[in-house]
Amino acid sequence: MSRVIVFDAPGGPLRLAEVPEPQAGPGEVRVRVRAAGVQPFDVAVVGGWLPAGADAPYPRTPGNEFAGVVDQVGADVAGFTPGDEVLGFGLLNAYGEHLVVPAAQVTAKPPEMPWEVAGGFSAASQTARNVIEALEVGEGETLLVHGAAGAVGTVAVQLGRHRGATVIGAAREEQHDYLRSLGALPVAYGEGFTARVRELAPGGEVHASLDSVGGAALDATLELVKDRSRVITLYDHDRAAALGVGLSPAIRTAERLAELAALYARGELRWHVLRTFPLEQAAEAHRFYTAGGIRGKIVLTVD
Ligand SMILES: NC(=O)c1ccc[n+]([C@@H]2O[C@H](COP(=O)([O-])OP(=O)(O)OC[C@H]3O[C@@H](n4cnc5c(N)ncnc54)[C@H](OP(=O)(O)O)[C@@H]3O)[C@@H](O)[C@H]2O)c1
Repeated sequence: MSRVIVFDAPGGPLRLAEVPEPQAGPGEVRVRVRAAGVQPFDVAVVGGWLPAGADAPYPRTPGNEFAGVVDQVGADVAGFTPGDEVLGFGLLNAYGEHLVVPAAQVTAKPPEMPWEVAGGFSAASQTARNVIEALEVGEGETLLVHGAAGAVGTVAVQLGRHRGATVIGAAREEQHDYLRSLGALPVAYGEGFTARVRELAPGGEVHASLDSVGGAALDATLELVKDRSRVITLYDHDRAAALGVGLSPAIRTAERLAELAALYARGELRWHVLRTFPLEQAAEAHRFYTAGGIRGKIVLTVD
């Protein structure tokens, strides 16, 4: 049997259950999960939401990013054997002891990467990379990152710096030392925000922006960035089309994940795990996450 976190109706609650171990089919691997990240996505899933086109019967298990050890390899899978340490992504089912996913959704975990980092690494790092690429952030430009101390923001700031951009990171003042340590120029929200950003931006110009906060943050961005095709919101999906701004490309690949993991292994991408919770305390981890005011990943660990 395998321990798994489930919920039986929209809104939860999350509870621990025991189910038969899932079996890897053709093209799939089974992973003995060691760590799984807690994601805004998971909070929405527990609220009853699923991405368009997805379907899953109740009881459902949340969790779309994980790290662990391959312990079963299905037919037609090349490149993995039991015992391989991997990290990967899915849509659901990562909050459990065992997870079956297509082999194309996992990649080798670098030895330098601790389990709790690997478990929460996939979604935010790939999202940030997709956005920075789609915004075509270039050398000498200025990028404004909202929610810069969050998981996506943390990676976006660093990838923007790697591309030679000046990065202005917006967050609460408690986060400003952290943002400086990532290479960003920090700016506080509130009255006078756009003037403060213009003062920080070389020549007063902001070329591109990642918005992970929405509302007033996105409104301010539209005052600052001339070309709306160079603004992407992760939050204000309903307003994006009318405003002419983009949404995050929902691309996840093992190759991209491997490149980002290699950056981490070389010490070129910093990552902050705020707190781990044992799998059994998934409900508490969600409460801690949704209370807000946190910086860094919340990760479930599976003994
Ligand atoms: N993670 C992903 O892969 C992914 C993918 C697609 C979309 N998204 C979306 O992108 C957003 C960020 O995701 P994340 O994983 O980076 O989340 P996160 O780690 O929880 O970070 C969110 C950040 O935004 C800040 N924030 C939230 N509301 C704010 C407000 N009204 N004013 C100023 N700052 C505010 C938070 O600061 P406080 O802690 O102070 O509130 C926090 O630093 C979420 O809306 C998520 O749904 C994420």
